[in-house]
Amino acid sequence: MTLDSFARYPLLFGPSPVHPLERLTAHLDGARIWAKREDVNSGLAFGGNKTRKLEYLVADALTEGADTLVSIGGVQSNHTRQVAAAAARAGMKAVLVQESWVDWPDSIYDRVGNIQLSRILGADVRLVRAGFGIEFKESWEQAIADVQAAGNVPYAIPAGASDHRLGGLGFAGWIVELERQERELGVFFDTVIVASGTGSTQAGMIAGNALSERPRRILGVDITATPEQTLAQVARIARATAELIGVEREIADEEIELDLRYHGGIYGIPDEATLDAIRTVARLEGMITDPVYEGKSMAAVIDLVSRGEIAPDSTVLYAHLGGQPAINGYSAVLG
Ligand SMILES: Cc1ncc(COP(=O)(O)O)c(C=O)c1O
Repeated sequence: MTLDSFARYPLLFGPSPVHPLERLTAHLDGARIWAKREDVNSGLAFGGNKTRKLEYLVADALTEGADTLVSIGGVQSNHTRQVAAAAARAGMKAVLVQESWVDWPDSIYDRVGNIQLSRILGADVRLVRAGFGIEFKESWEQAIADVQAAGNVPYAIPAGASDHRLGGLGFAGWIVELERQERELGVFFDTVIVASGTGSTQAGMIAGNALSERPRRILGVDITATPEQTLAQVARIARATAELIGVEREIADEEIELDLRYHGGIYGIPDEATLDAIRTVARLEGMITDPVYEGKSMAAVIDLVSRGEIAPDSTVLYAHLGGQPAINGYSAVLG
């Protein structure tokens, strides 16, 4: 099979924008830096990387005759908010299990940002007490059973739409889309820097890259602080996706690169480098990144480029994966 043989339910505007970060590049005085913007990839509830993955999962759900998307994430999960929006757009229902992945003091943490949006979008939002993890959970199975008991047909979407047969397709397609944009713009990005959490964003890119005639470096930035689990998940999804889209060679271990220096010690809480990165790119480019994901991968870009660990003659693409609504829950450290 090829990537084109999988059905997609259209949720995106089209190709996400690619543009140079000129003032950040001048400030760091190293490699040239551009961004590709999943935060503005669609008109659905502030967009983000999951919207691209969900094009494939929603199509599959409708084919299976499902009427309710059931998914799971942290209280401020961007993923579950995008599931809620995709369900609304497709005329489906959404049940969302929201776990306490982050021990965070903002008293309105479970009322603003992503969770507020999911409620506005009409999802059945269920707060449960359980820690960070990407494995299958009892609360999630209960939600599926409840949907069935109510006479509806559930479609199960794991955390981040990652541990799912079709989870890597969206970002395999992102690479094909990027190659087209590179031809139009007359530029080649030798390095992509991408935040990695539940793994299928980076994994999809690795699989798409393996189809390419001119592969590039895909550098994942771990934001989970449980890197062994992340690395194993990225590797597994990259290899399964590659097979699914007809890559006819093995994905080598060297193609699965995860930088462990920028997670700030814990999932969901920004360290000083992350907060500095958020302010720096906001003040130089007017571009907003969040304290859980994109601020951490931006901290990686800033450090790697300013110290020359990424060579000055490189052209780097920062994959902006969305996530801004969570900022509303971080007034204790931002603003
Ligand atoms: C804004 C943002 N960036 C990065 C990620 C990481 O993507 P993935 O879970 O596919 O590794 C996520 C989701 O987890 C996200 O919401």
